[in-house]
Amino acid sequence: MLDKVKELIGDVKSFNATTKDEVEAFRIKYLGSKGLLKDLFSEFKNVDAAMRKDFGQALNNLKQSAEGKVAELNDALDSSTSEKSFYGDLTRPSEPIELGSRHPISLVKNQIIDVFNKIGFTVSEGPEIEDDWHNFTALNLPEYHPARDMQDTFFIEQSRGNFGTDILLRTHTSSVQVRYMEENQPPIRTISPGRVFRNEDISARAHCIFHQVEGLYIDTDVSFADLKQTLLYFTKEMFGKSKIRLRPSYFPFTEPSAEVDIYWGLETETDYRITKGTGWLEIMGCGMVDPNVLKNANIDPTKYSGYAFGMGIERIAMLLYQIPDIRMFYENDKRFLEQFKSVL
Ligand code: PHE
Repeated sequence: MLDKVKELIGDVKSFNATTKDEVEAFRIKYLGSKGLLKDLFSEFKNVDAAMRKDFGQALNNLKQSAEGKVAELNDALDSSTSEKSFYGDLTRPSEPIELGSRHPISLVKNQIIDVFNKIGFTVSEGPEIEDDWHNFTALNLPEYHPARDMQDTFFIEQSRGNFGTDILLRTHTSSVQVRYMEENQPPIRTISPGRVFRNEDISARAHCIFHQVEGLYIDTDVSFADLKQTLLYFTKEMFGKSKIRLRPSYFPFTEPSAEVDIYWGLETETDYRITKGTGWLEIMGCGMVDPNVLKNANIDPTKYSGYAFGMGIERIAMLLYQIPDIRMFYENDKRFLEQFKSVL
């Protein structure tokens, strides 16, 4: 009899169930009103007096084991079903994570940086809030110079009567190049990407905040031919087109100065907006650095010469991606931004 109870204890301990019904059947079998324990307890009186103590203990042990097992299995099943309904099937494949995309301005900026990196230009950066010296005066735009009006400026502090101490939002990243020249002697090969600000009316073609990349190259014996070759290299790498023309122009900080046009062709000209039917498109300004600018930045103009150029990133991005309105860059409309997902 005692052996039988011990065997049952072993059975109880090794029992397992995967459903509540199985647990219930188990409970009824052992603990139910007509269950095994009931029968065994009724056998108690038939057991030898000498065995009663052991038998009693074994029975209690069986009862506790069975009760413990029922509770344990019910708990386990409860928690696993609630976990399941909460998380669903934990082994199912997860939702795909939506990938972001780079902003087209960053894409084009990085592309321009890559092209110039390959020929030895490094990136330099400077503050968006500038002083008058770095944005104007050092760039050969002294007080009352009419060319100051070429770029309508947002002033932060304008101290009348004490000219040269004004604080403003930089109107171009040429200011970064002044800072770079002040701190480095030639040879200099640097490009300065960054955000610039001009107090202009916002339209499909112009914005009061936009981005530029300006470049500066200073060494001994730098000539206009070097500039032209660099521009040719750039347009070929960037656009796959190498027909360019240089139109004489004016910038206070370069002499001579030119405007660079690229021959874009008329294939993409759907509404005359891109090249206005000429096939030519202006993409940047450039020129030989004015000796006054070198002097202002403590570089000896009798020893060194250099060229500089500057372009608007938005304009180039509009061209590359056929974007009709500059304002789309700043609206952060997901439908617009998502179109650049595949571009790295
Ligand atoms: N700084 C000029 C601008 O913002 C561009 C430029 C740079 C022109 C260098 C010539 C040389 O318009």
